[in-house]
Amino acid sequence: MTEVRQKMIVANWKMNGAFDMAYSLLEEVLDGTRNLDRVDIVICPPYVYLHYVAQLIAANPRVSLGAQNCSEHSAGAYTGEVSSSMLKDAGCKYVICGHSERRQYHAETDAEVARKTVATIEQHLAPITCVGETLEERQSGKTRMVVERQIDAVLERCGRELIDQVTFAYEPVWAIGTGRSATPDEAQDVHRIIRTRIGGLSERAAASCKILYGGSVTGDNAAAVLSQADVDGCLVGGASLKSAQFIEICKAAV
Ligand code: PGA
Repeated sequence: MTEVRQKMIVANWKMNGAFDMAYSLLEEVLDGTRNLDRVDIVICPPYVYLHYVAQLIAANPRVSLGAQNCSEHSAGAYTGEVSSSMLKDAGCKYVICGHSERRQYHAETDAEVARKTVATIEQHLAPITCVGETLEERQSGKTRMVVERQIDAVLERCGRELIDQVTFAYEPVWAIGTGRSATPDEAQDVHRIIRTRIGGLSERAAASCKILYGGSVTGDNAAAVLSQADVDGCLVGGASLKSAQFIEICKAAV
């Protein structure tokens, strides 16, 4: 049985934004995507803008709020951290877990990313858990090994009961912010590896889990990557800050 997975386009603003920028960007994006009801759109601004963005998108049920990170802990003496229950309070539906910039600059390990994924699910939020190899790993033929290792940590922690609640994002590190996107075939190959790995734990989850592609997605290349069988959407960084680009990407997903 083939399952129809509605496409999802996620805007990862990273550490960009301001109140007035959020207002004008969202005004354009909401207007430009008004008639697109067959795509799930998720906006992930920095923490301080979450509540504000929640208000701006409130009247648009097809647009949801997401956070870029969360703590693996539920509360306590963790200065500067934000828990998944707080994100829920702020109106989030999604949380990006284990983005490569978190892995790289904040030393997040596979195990920690898996714990964050579960902490998110425990608050009835949906994790978007990222995996992906570096350029060096790809060039030395280690892509499959690295991605499977990252996926296995999540599969192990979630188990069969929770795994179908995870959305995965394949984000090759060499493609992020470089202008050099993976080709549609390169993306499809790794997405297939990921889906097959999920299938080793749960066939049902393999059929239903969304796997997004991220890394230099633009209005020009989105349609080609989205046409691949195992690509269920995109995680968009730079192009999510430009309304015209982001709208094009959302249109390509319908
Ligand atoms: P990019 O970033 O679209 O700017 O390459 C993607 C990401 O890091 O999620």
